[in-house]
Amino acid sequence: MEQELISVRGLDVAYASGAHALRGLALNVGIGERVGIIGANGAGKTTVARAITGLASAFRATIRGGRITLSGRDITRWPAWKVLREGVVTIPEGRGVISDMTVEDNLRLVLVGLPRAQRSTLAEAFSMYPVLGERRRAMAGLLSGGEQQMLAVARALLARPRLIVADELSLGLAPKVVKEILNGLSARAAGEGTAVLLIEQAAVLSLQFVDRAYVLDQGKVVTQGTSAELRRAGDTTARYLGIADLERSEGLL
Ligand SMILES: Nc1ncnc2c1ncn2[C@@H]1O[C@H](COP(=O)(O)OP(=O)(O)OP(=O)(O)O)[C@@H](O)[C@H]1O
Ligand SMILES: [Mg+2]
Repeated sequence: MEQELISVRGLDVAYASGAHALRGLALNVGIGERVGIIGANGAGKTTVARAITGLASAFRATIRGGRITLSGRDITRWPAWKVLREGVVTIPEGRGVISDMTVEDNLRLVLVGLPRAQRSTLAEAFSMYPVLGERRRAMAGLLSGGEQQMLAVARALLARPRLIVADELSLGLAPKVVKEILNGLSARAAGEGTAVLLIEQAAVLSLQFVDRAYVLDQGKVVTQGTSAELRRAGDTTARYLGIADLERSEGLL
């Protein structure tokens, strides 16, 4: 068993609107481990990402109970900048690249103010996804959806994070493009020892990239297992996801 990196226990989160998004959620990710979170719309996946990365309050959500620890340290109510400084980086739903800046400047932005040891060079980002190098002087907003997502992933990895939380990378992209993005992410994360928390509705795709996964429903973990176990119990896993069969989850892309 890997040494623990992040641990979430009894996490209870509610939005100001009254939506009770997480109800006693528990999960953990080991150092350098690749873990998935899968679940239907509204299961609470994005809320987990927000809570872990210190962004809950920015979305008018309150952590009502539970504990999040990073390498044993309680980070439950830390602000986002402090969590980021500890090497926990998020790729938000909807990518978050800056359209009116070039590819290169989107990447440079992350390097400003980072200690040298935490920086990697732009060349490393371009070797991860060569198309970004080819289009380095193009405005990010002119890239295709897949290329923008590559930029978001490459940017997140530039700071050599300990954990990368990727929320719905596959959204609006063809499965082939998603695989290319995830291959790049996996290779780089493995090389750097970066742990990945991959949040996805596209269960089959996700299970090809993670070692194990949690299935969320109504703010709780309803089942968990290695990717092989969850695929073997495909019917049960699919039922939790609210779909007829697991293989069809690619159709959600
Ligand atoms: N900003 C917000 N304000 C109020 N309620 C919210 C907000 N974001 C999410 N919720 C509610 O919290 C619950 C969990 O939502 P969340 O976005 O975490 O689910 P999700 O699994 O990421 O869903 P999706 O697959 O649609 O992205 C839902 O009931 C949702 O309506
Ligand atoms: Mg979401």
